[in-house]
Amino acid sequence: MKEQLEALLQEALAELSQASTEEGLQELRVKYLGKKGAITGVMKGLGALSPEERPLVGQVVNTVKAKLEETLDARGAEIRAAVKAQRLAAEKIDVTLPGRKSPLGSKHPITLVTEEICSIFAALGFAVAEGPEIELDFYNFEALNLPKDHPARDMQDTFYFGESVLLRTHTSPVQIRTMLKQPPPVRIIAPGTVYRCDSDATHSPMFHQIEGLMVDKGITFADLKGILTLFISQLFGKDIGVRLRPSFFPFTEPSAEVDIACVICRGKGCRVCKETGWLEILGSGMVDPEVYRHVGYDSEQYTGFAFGMGIERIAMLKYGIADMRLLFENDLRFLKQF
Ligand code: PHE
Repeated sequence: MKEQLEALLQEALAELSQASTEEGLQELRVKYLGKKGAITGVMKGLGALSPEERPLVGQVVNTVKAKLEETLDARGAEIRAAVKAQRLAAEKIDVTLPGRKSPLGSKHPITLVTEEICSIFAALGFAVAEGPEIELDFYNFEALNLPKDHPARDMQDTFYFGESVLLRTHTSPVQIRTMLKQPPPVRIIAPGTVYRCDSDATHSPMFHQIEGLMVDKGITFADLKGILTLFISQLFGKDIGVRLRPSFFPFTEPSAEVDIACVICRGKGCRVCKETGWLEILGSGMVDPEVYRHVGYDSEQYTGFAFGMGIERIAMLKYGIADMRLLFENDLRFLKQF
């Protein structure tokens, strides 16, 4: 019996050294030490032994079992360590590799043009002013000489919140807010978002304008023309043609619209300028005395001019963009070009 046990032990140890998984080890444990296992089987024969032999063989059984248990545990530990080492090797991260860079954005063409226009006027001594996009009728219309029944109100398709609250239709209310806040002289430009109920390839219900206002003693139409011509030559280049065309705005008198020679055909006539050779880029005029009356300025002492332009239109002309909607779709393939 003793030899039988020794042989079983050798056999078990040999198989154990071959086992390479935890499942394999568990199978061996059952095979030798389980209820129906080989060693258990041998132990069942103990009863048939003489009382003298029984403790001796019993001792051998215990040693064999202990040896087997010990080896099973040791082999188990080895296998677990190997599995862990393998997993660590597979999941190894090379911390010296360069990281993934998050791509850097660029400025929107509207922002680029706004900044360029602001810096041209900053060099001429104009400060930047701002006003709210949700505006009162008084600032957007009334104080700009557009009383309630004025037909020119229809030109601006206004979004109303109620009787007297609206989304500003132009940046001109910033003129009023500025003059109510400070005495003359005034020299400001006011970039901002404006809203009109209008939408197609050249109109968006939300767009941007830059307003300008200069008020002081002795300001004349020559100052208006001089400053706007200088501004246009800095924005579009020295040799671009400029012309002033008589126009009408309720808050300026006299008023002029300013055209530049078509940037596409240089004045020869094409589809963009509708064969006229000219493109309108801004509205302007001498501030109407009626506006001064609303803000408490003395129109006998002070004169000045104001102007306003659509930034989208200028960006489209400057960069040759055919459809205004491109400026609002935020398609990266478009935006990456600036
Ligand atoms: N506010 C006018 C518009 O939106 C533009 C303008 C501003 C005209 C200032 C004259 C003076 O059309």
